[in-house]
Amino acid sequence: MNNEELMLRAITQAEKFKYTAKPNPVVGAILHNGEEIISEGYHEKYGDNHAEINAITNAQKYYGVKFKRFADLTLICTLEPCSHVGKTGSCAKKIVDVGIKNIVIGSIDPNPKVAGKGIKILKENNINVAVGLHEKLVKNQNKYFFYKHQNNKLFVTLKIARSFDGKSHLNSNERVFVTSESSRKDVQLIRATQDAILTGGNTLRNDNPIMNARVDFKVNQPKKILLTNKKYRKDLDFFNEDFLEVFKSKDLKQILNSLSETDICSLLVEAGPKLATSFLEARCVDQIILYTSSKALGKNGVSWFKEDNAIENYGFKLESSYKIDSDTKQIYIKDE
Ligand SMILES: NC(=O)c1ccc[n+]([C@@H]2O[C@H](COP(=O)([O-])OP(=O)(O)OC[C@H]3O[C@@H](n4cnc5c(N)ncnc54)[C@H](OP(=O)(O)O)[C@@H]3O)[C@@H](O)[C@H]2O)c1
Repeated sequence: MNNEELMLRAITQAEKFKYTAKPNPVVGAILHNGEEIISEGYHEKYGDNHAEINAITNAQKYYGVKFKRFADLTLICTLEPCSHVGKTGSCAKKIVDVGIKNIVIGSIDPNPKVAGKGIKILKENNINVAVGLHEKLVKNQNKYFFYKHQNNKLFVTLKIARSFDGKSHLNSNERVFVTSESSRKDVQLIRATQDAILTGGNTLRNDNPIMNARVDFKVNQPKKILLTNKKYRKDLDFFNEDFLEVFKSKDLKQILNSLSETDICSLLVEAGPKLATSFLEARCVDQIILYTSSKALGKNGVSWFKEDNAIENYGFKLESSYKIDSDTKQIYIKDE
């Protein structure tokens, strides 16, 4: 196995932890001696050990058996080892301390706290560092993490479920399911990929949503964000977990700026027409996921938008279209 094959393995295995590592990036590390893999390590869960630390700890079990010195091994690492101490200590310092002398890195870490500083520590300690092997794959695999740090803002997805006649809900505010059960299951999967979900006061009051990811695998649940200026009942299902934040402000840019100071990289907006339109008007949306059902809500339904081609007029173009039972799922991205 060569470095290239092992980098691909580290990337593929790291992917298994994409729901539990977020909002951190998924990272994989492999120690090998040119003939065989000595150990592997992954960043499995947010707040837990980084991949390099797990690979080093796992290798220590074979010390004196499969290898004599860390200097005889090569470390493959999908992302630059961190320089900062953070929750778990500096990985770059640990690599230096155990005596690794060769490291192959997929991509520089875009987080300004690291961005080249980890590599600097390694080089200053006479470690051979090669960077850029399968860099594109690493960036794609951690799309939201790279987007956030390269643009200094969150990646915002707006979800819209509409009836065949373009409606969001009934004007009586009585709760109705606009789309099919399969589309609603698909939304649960999308929630599972996101670092945070945001909604508005009317949706909270009318729908009493839980707004977590209800899936049959382990997830670091998205943080819930509520925008309301009104008093709310804390006994609602929405508040049954403690990872949430309430903003009284209506200034979306300011709210997004303050969220980008946290670890969150991706945000799913699941609100009704008023708040969704405010997000679009403020040019705060990067992607729209649109579910259209084959059922109409009729004259008692509340329209999402005044015009038929509002999404295109807000500067989005269709990227992909799928069938989900009798519904259609379409993904729109910014037309730049
Ligand atoms: N079909 C779908 O995909 C979907 C998804 C979610 C919700 N819905 C439906 O949407 C209905 C509610 O829609 P909605 O548009 O009236 O309410 P909404 O989604 O709750 O958004 C409006 C509320 O958000 C708060 N807000 C804070 N900043 C804002 C800003 N900059 N611009 C606009 N609102 C801001 C205000 O809450 P306060 O008034 O509390 O201060 C405002 O009343 C619900 O009945 C629900 O069934 C449909």
